Amino acid sequence: FDPLPLQVTINGTMQNLSIEPRVTLLDLLREQLHLTGTKKGCDHGQCGACTVHVDGQRVNACLTLAMTTEGSTVTTIEGLAQDNQLHPMQEAFIKHDGFQCGYCTPGQIMSAVACIREGHASSPEEVREYMSGNLCRCGAYANIVEAIMDVKQ
Ligand code: FES
Repeated sequence: FDPLPLQVTINGTMQNLSIEPRVTLLDLLREQLHLTGTKKGCDHGQCGACTVHVDGQRVNACLTLAMTTEGSTVTTIEGLAQDNQLHPMQEAFIKHDGFQCGYCTPGQIMSAVACIREGHASSPEEVREYMSGNLCRCGAYANIVEAIMDVKQ
């Protein structure tokens, strides 16, 4: 396939790109833009490691064709901290030990931010339900829920 133009704002910077139409948003971020904070776990929508925000909505970047983000605003874990200040959710994950190996953490944090923004953090049970698409092989789930409930307050 011939490359096609794609204009998308990523972490506040307008990008004028040329990409193959079958490239996923995940591969665009990691391979072409070297934003490797977004992780590839399963590459088919099962683990949540690739979670990013597109126009404020969380999506699995591995299931999103990059071309569909034309004109959109994409935020990755690299875009969450502002002015050298960690995002409150990043601070909370540190405070509550919301990770062990850290591989799933960028996706967990992007989902956690969306969880609160979308109003799904009224109880630990609701948080667990919302976060159920983000797998953690180290089993840090209890601390992740604690971190989210802490930020929610
Ligand atoms: Fe996208 Fe697993 S890498 S859901």
